[in-house]
Amino acid sequence: MIGFDHVHLRYPGPGHEPALEDVHVEVPTGQMAFLLGPSGAGKTSLLKLVTMEERPTQGRVRVLEFDSVTVRNRELPSLRRRIGMVYQDFRLLRDKTVFENIAYVLRMTGVLDHPTLQRIVLRLLTHVSLYHKRNHFPDQLSGGEQQRTAIARALVHEPRILLADEPTGNLDTVSALEILEIFRRVHTAGATVLIATHDESLAARYAERAIFLEEGRVVRDARPARGRGL
Ligand SMILES: Nc1ncnc2c1ncn2[C@@H]1O[C@H](COP(=O)(O)OP(=O)(O)O)[C@@H](O)[C@H]1O
Ligand SMILES: [Mg+2]
Repeated sequence: MIGFDHVHLRYPGPGHEPALEDVHVEVPTGQMAFLLGPSGAGKTSLLKLVTMEERPTQGRVRVLEFDSVTVRNRELPSLRRRIGMVYQDFRLLRDKTVFENIAYVLRMTGVLDHPTLQRIVLRLLTHVSLYHKRNHFPDQLSGGEQQRTAIARALVHEPRILLADEPTGNLDTVSALEILEIFRRVHTAGATVLIATHDESLAARYAERAIFLEEGRVVRDARPARGRGL
C-alpha cells in the first residue's frame, strides 16, 4: 500500500511554486496505477516521496509499514530493498554484461554463493526473455532489451512495490508494449506497480487506475475498465 495524506512538497530555494500541493491518494496493494501529467506536473517528485528520497514539507506518506513522519534514516535501506525502481535512461553499468548488471546487486546484499546467484539471475533473465543475451554488454542491446535488463535488476529482491519513471520514454511502441506486458505480469504476481508517464495511450491500455497530476495537484483520479480508454 502507498498512501499520501494531504502531502505538500516544496523544494528548498527561493521563489519556487510547490512541486506537490495537497496530494491525497491511496494506491492499494497489488494495484497497477499510472501517474499521468505533463512535464513538470510533479510525477517524479511523487515517486521520490515513495522511496523517501524526499520527505513531504506537510502531510504524510505511508509506504508498506513505513511512515514518512516517523521513519528513521537507518530504516531507509530496508524500505528501498522492498521497492524496485526503473528509470527512463535504464541506468545500467556499461562495463558489465547483462548477467553481471544483475548479479552485482545480489553480491552487494551478501549473496556470494555462485550457484545461488546464477540460479536467481538466470531465472530473472528468463522472465524478461533475455536469457540468450546474458553475456552481452548494454551497448550491444536495443533500448527495449536494456530496459528489460533494468527491470530484471529491479526485481532482484522480489519487491512488493515496483516504481517506473517514464520507463518507455526512450523506446519505440513495440518495445514499450513489451515493457508494459512485463509490468502487468509483475502486477499479476501481486506487486503494487506505479508507473509515471506522460503517454496517456499506454495508460489507456493497461491502467486499473490513472491519477492525473497538473502543477502539483491531482486533477483527476480514474478507474478505467481495461481497454475502454481513460
Ligand atoms: N530538486 C529539485 N529542486 C527544485 N525544484 C525541483 C526539483 N525537482 C523538481 N523540481 C520542480 O518541481 C516541479 C515538479 O517536477 P517533477 O516532479 O520532476 O515533474 P515531472 O516528473 O512530472 O516532470 C517542477 O516545477 C520542477 O522544476
Ligand atoms: Mg519526471
